[in-house]
Amino acid sequence: MTLRVAVLVSGRGSNLASLLEHIRKGSVQAKVTLVVSDKPGAEALDSARHHGVPAVVTLAPEPDEKSSSYNDRLLAVLRGDKPDLVVLAGYMRILGKAVVDAFPGRVVNIHPSLLPAFKGLRAVQQALDAGVRFAGCSTHLVTADLDGGPIVLQAAVAVKPDDTHETLSRRILRLEHLLLPRTVQLFCEGRVATADGRAIIAPGPSWLQRTDLDLPSGVLYGHGF
Ligand code: GAR
Repeated sequence: MTLRVAVLVSGRGSNLASLLEHIRKGSVQAKVTLVVSDKPGAEALDSARHHGVPAVVTLAPEPDEKSSSYNDRLLAVLRGDKPDLVVLAGYMRILGKAVVDAFPGRVVNIHPSLLPAFKGLRAVQQALDAGVRFAGCSTHLVTADLDGGPIVLQAAVAVKPDDTHETLSRRILRLEHLLLPRTVQLFCEGRVATADGRAIIAPGPSWLQRTDLDLPSGVLYGHGF
């Protein structure tokens, strides 16, 4: 089933670009119908236009605007698009409860850590500062709990002793560019459900079986990939 997907962005938009590329190549059966950026001039907007996304909207907060008012405006834009799924791809604002409640179990975020570790900002630096031996990325359902909703997918890499923020971020970002499209495709396949506060992925085809994807080696692809 081809899902209508709305994507919220704030910056570079490499995850959005990867999702759009996977859709173009046919590995994700979705259509990105709307991209909203809270930042005027975000690179992600160029990417959306380049791929012919039908609605590309800049929705910047007004000076001193309350978060609830901003989220009401955002919700109106989203409702107008009637998305099946809302994806946060580098969206750096907290999504209001009204928006989360409007799309129950249908808002997904990607985060550059192995949640529940290192929530919030500068997650890769937090991991390096903590001296962890493994790092990675997660997709999760968005709830009122910041970066705390049910985990959908995770992928992990070993941290090297000489890793810097730049080198580790680059390895993790490459995984994010697979994890987010894979997550959207799981929704397209109708395989994501929740029970007891956890995301359950129904059995079905795995991307690990595919030979056309050029999956990086040395990576642990968690259940559901
Ligand atoms: C990505 O690493 C994403 O995981 C992160 O922002 C980056 C956006 O990159 N998101 C968060 O930290 C959210 N808590 P992109 O704009 O190139 O997709």
